[in-house]
Amino acid sequence: MGVLDGKTAVVTGAGQGIGSVFARRLAAEGASVVLCDLVACATTLEAIRRSGGRAVDVAADVTDQRSVAGLMEAAVSAFGRLDILINNAAIASAVEMKPIHEISSEEWTRVMEVNVRGVFECIKAAVPRMRANGYGKIVNMGSGTFLKGTPMLPHYVASKGAVVGMTRSFARELGEHGIRVNCISPGLVMTDAMRGHAVMGSAEFAQGNIKSRAIGREQVPEDLAGAMIFLSSPQSDFITGQTLVVDGGSFMH
Ligand SMILES: NC(=O)c1ccc[n+]([C@@H]2O[C@H](COP(=O)([O-])OP(=O)(O)OC[C@H]3O[C@@H](n4cnc5c(N)ncnc54)[C@H](O)[C@@H]3O)[C@@H](O)[C@H]2O)c1
Repeated sequence: MGVLDGKTAVVTGAGQGIGSVFARRLAAEGASVVLCDLVACATTLEAIRRSGGRAVDVAADVTDQRSVAGLMEAAVSAFGRLDILINNAAIASAVEMKPIHEISSEEWTRVMEVNVRGVFECIKAAVPRMRANGYGKIVNMGSGTFLKGTPMLPHYVASKGAVVGMTRSFARELGEHGIRVNCISPGLVMTDAMRGHAVMGSAEFAQGNIKSRAIGREQVPEDLAGAMIFLSSPQSDFITGQTLVVDGGSFMH
């Protein structure tokens, strides 16, 4: 018996990193999971099926309205309903840290396209399916970089501020339909891809983050899974519009 038995969840960016761990945990809690990414989700899919879970893989670009519509459609045709949307896909480990004069307008726009409009498109396409059940849980991925104002990442930081803003606005708009919208704000999470990042993967950068925490250790994707399951489950049904900081006590508010 899992806390999400009978529910269906869509996870964007499920091919690697945090999204892959989230998809596995949702399946372990009994949810049927629809995996979406630009890259193959085969490893995530196999891991879920091997452990007896239910999942399908749909290649979709969160910035493409038609492919996002197909993604939500796939959830309903494969599993009959859509209850949970985890907006995890982003230009995250792929973002370069640079001073303002080295960031091109194209880079700025691309980060906004994926990290902001991608979230909007997914919510827009999921809401009619959730409204049909009078219930839904949306979990957006923010970032501690927005709370701290991390330098050399203005496009990424601004995009994550926009995610917090959308979380609040959609929470108010969609509450009457039983749809809860919340956000998780992680600290630096050491995924395989992040370990390879030119700046954020360096020992010096990682140590600076660890020193800023009340719980002074590296953060890994599994550290976020409990918060994500809580915000996806009925246990958090009276919580909406909130940003839950999960970073070992680095940023306190
Ligand atoms: N890792 C961290 O330190 C950290 C910290 C704070 C917040 N976050 C947030 O958590 C989430 C996951 O982070 P991560 O480190 O696992 O990211 P990641 O860069 O490892 O993975 C992101 C995934 O999103 C996919 N993606 C990118 N553009 C897409 C598109 N247009 N359509 C569909 N999929 C697309 C990528 O292919 C990739 O698999 C992101 O929203 C990120 O901003 C991460």
